[in-house]
Amino acid sequence: TYVVTEACIKCKYMDCVEVCPVDCFYEGENMLIIHPDECIDCGVCEPECPPEAIVPDTDPQAETWLELNREYSDNKWPNITRKGEAPADADTFRGQEGKYEKYFS
Ligand code: SF4
Ligand code: F3S
Repeated sequence: TYVVTEACIKCKYMDCVEVCPVDCFYEGENMLIIHPDECIDCGVCEPECPPEAIVPDTDPQAETWLELNREYSDNKWPNITRKGEAPADADTFRGQEGKYEKYFS
């Protein structure tokens, strides 16, 4: 599976949603996540994400995030199939560290 990581938080560009052939993205207030059991590992979303928030589960970064993607896509956050508007201030959060502690939702 592919996994959405911290770089998505408060950026939420949503270019990933448009290209997913199985619609396995789920939406929180400040980020999207991938349902690990629904993702077919096609990899097309990975290069679409401007801040490179999407990584394969083989990436060392994915470890802690895989659990979170699983937890919140399992009946907690709604499925999203169409790209919405990215936050107006998305660019200002690009590359910031510590976004999980401050803004995860
Ligand atoms: Fe969807 Fe493919 Fe990305 Fe998985 S890897 S979330 S199936 S676009
Ligand atoms: Fe997030 Fe990147 Fe998608 S910022 S919403 S994972 S395009």
